[in-house]
Amino acid sequence: MSAIRIIKGKYRNKPVRNIAFTLVSGYASGAKGNYVTVKNDGNFPNCPDTVRIKVDSIQDFEYVTGDAMQDNTVHFEKPTVVETDDEAMDRIRERFDILHEMTKATVSGDIRAMIVSGPPGVGKSFGVEQEIDKATMFDKLAGKRLRAEVVKGSATPIGLYQTLYKYSDANCVVVFDDCDSILLDDVALNLLKGALDSGKKRTISWLSESSALRREGIPDRFEFKGSVIFITNLKFDKMKSQKLRDHLDALQSRCHYLDLTLDTMRDKLLRIKQIAKDGVLFADYDFNEYAQDDIIDFMHANKDRLREVSLRMALKIADLRKSFPNNWKRMSETTCMKAA
Ligand SMILES: Nc1ncnc2c1ncn2[C@@H]1O[C@H](COP(=O)(O)OP(=O)(O)OP(=O)(O)O)[C@@H](O)[C@H]1O
Ligand SMILES: [Mg+2]
Repeated sequence: MSAIRIIKGKYRNKPVRNIAFTLVSGYASGAKGNYVTVKNDGNFPNCPDTVRIKVDSIQDFEYVTGDAMQDNTVHFEKPTVVETDDEAMDRIRERFDILHEMTKATVSGDIRAMIVSGPPGVGKSFGVEQEIDKATMFDKLAGKRLRAEVVKGSATPIGLYQTLYKYSDANCVVVFDDCDSILLDDVALNLLKGALDSGKKRTISWLSESSALRREGIPDRFEFKGSVIFITNLKFDKMKSQKLRDHLDALQSRCHYLDLTLDTMRDKLLRIKQIAKDGVLFADYDFNEYAQDDIIDFMHANKDRLREVSLRMALKIADLRKSFPNNWKRMSETTCMKAA
């Protein structure tokens, strides 16, 4: 039985490396490139018994004895039908496209509430703000009252009540960006639950007497018809306190939940590469292509030492590269990396 070991090939666009197969027929050229035909031998589930592995040249495979087949698991990697970088980037882009689509739908009122969660510096605020800016641009030009407000940092329960009142009309959106204090406060959470309830009428009340509200002419109950977006680093399902988790579950059940976590280091680096390649990440720096690649290669090489692998970190390093063209790596090591 003759066998062939593919050193570097592709099957259905997935890489195939160092795998031995039973040979059916040798190297051939077709309209779609060069290939060898081999028995599947159970390597690719749900695929035909005989498959064509694409190779670039005769250097990409070698003929071996049939024994190599038994040794597959010992000497050679199991077939790796792995995601390519391009496929991973498409997958990641799709998730951020969803962020844009969902934000649009929230601005238009089709979606009443959305929670966007994910680690720092991946582009949560950026994506939401970009859509909000687009939506409010015409209002701004026309000098009309803005339909949207982004509240950043902390907010007290009464501040929350006032903001919800101010943006209670059907065409309004309030974005709470990094306002985790309101997600961790009982009174605030109850207000939000009321504001986002799925019933037809969403009435919110402020139960205690407040001179601040009276002064501003804000009633102690009103109907909220607007939409809300929360942007947070909190992982709702990982909260330790059961009471808080129940509360957040109640909020989550009223909202669409978009998790933008990039789980692996590879995904994080690919996201940075992707935004840089789009020509937007370093747009303000007048960098040439090599400078961009330099920064990304540097991050790649030091991924385990960087305090954070994020778009924000890429921009920090870009700042250093611009300010200290000859010494930026050393500066980055000192300021962006954990001690060795
Ligand atoms: N698609 C993009 N194109 C260009 N720059 C981007 C893009 N997304 C994010 N950035 C830049 O990356 C940096 C981090 O993004 P952003 O502030 O949106 O992160 P974040 O996820 O909101 O982080 P945090 O949780 O810390 O608030 C910002 O400087 C932002 O301008
Ligand atoms: Mg943010």
